[in-house]
Amino acid sequence: MAVPTIAWKDGIIRIIDQTRLPGEIVFLDIASLETLCEAIRSLRVRGAPAIGVAGALGVALAAYHFQGDSRPGLDRTIREAASALNATRPTAVNLPWALGRMTRVLDADPGGAVPDMRERLIREALDMLAEDDAVCRRIGAHGLSLIPDSAVILTHCNAGGLATSGYGTALGVIYAAHEAGKTVRVFADETRPLLQGARLTAWELRESGIPVTVLCDSAAAVLMRKGVIDCVIVGADRIAANGDTANKVGTCGLAVIAKACGVPFYVAAPVSTVDFSIPDGEGIPIEERDGSEIAEGFGVRTVPEGVPLFNPAFDVTPHALISAIVTEEGVLRPPFDAGIRGLRV
Ligand code: MRU
Repeated sequence: MAVPTIAWKDGIIRIIDQTRLPGEIVFLDIASLETLCEAIRSLRVRGAPAIGVAGALGVALAAYHFQGDSRPGLDRTIREAASALNATRPTAVNLPWALGRMTRVLDADPGGAVPDMRERLIREALDMLAEDDAVCRRIGAHGLSLIPDSAVILTHCNAGGLATSGYGTALGVIYAAHEAGKTVRVFADETRPLLQGARLTAWELRESGIPVTVLCDSAAAVLMRKGVIDCVIVGADRIAANGDTANKVGTCGLAVIAKACGVPFYVAAPVSTVDFSIPDGEGIPIEERDGSEIAEGFGVRTVPEGVPLFNPAFDVTPHALISAIVTEEGVLRPPFDAGIRGLRV
């Protein structure tokens, strides 16, 4: 992407405020944990890998600003920061995965001196930022084999550069196909209620010169029944050990339609999105967000006052509806449980 999703410089986390896109490109310089937690909760920074990286940088921020030379004091500060960040959003497992990686730096050297430990924590977070980009590019390279030379692809939500440190997972596969000289055309579901598809996927694909058309979520069946779509590719927020996959609400419905129409349905995600501790999708915590996102989307009231609202941010697609899962380690085909076990390090 031309603009970085998230960056670090001297104790400041710089993010592009995704709530302002596509109208304005606004960067936020974040210097406090509270501001970062608010930014994650309100989706200024969003997408599973990006919030993992943001969480790690949030811990780095706490380490950077820690004063004094008390090692128990530093440990307490870091663990409190990790716990506050972990409480921001429940579904994407990349967040606790990244925070766990940060606190393990402390655990690995309980006697280490404070200045050295602060530096190591910052380095670990910066490593994660760099690794995310490399991982997404490997996902793209593996996913390439799934894309025909001339492809029409449907996607949901935003699993692109904006949802990662810069390249994307589902869109990473699309970028890799484009870079390899394949002709790709994308249909992007608008993705109710917060319009990540219309606002973000359409924005970044247009910036990259990839033809993109936005449609209402409910129009996806029209295209799939007509045979227009070669494959569906989406990202993921948490993949259970059997391949059941949580992603933006509406994903499961798309997978059902794809199955009915014989369209391959692919999930692209890093191994850090796999939750090996959860046997199936039943155990995935699903975030419920405020009903105002439905009733007053972007400032206009569209639901009568007093009517109850149901606003799950994610749903779970059963593994039986998924044709392949693309990770940085390769392409998994059903049955997924054995392949997923093989990813465990
Ligand atoms: O609520 P969001 O915008 O954070 O939801 C994001 C998604 O559902 C993405 O598809 C998922 O995190 C994968 S991002 C590479």
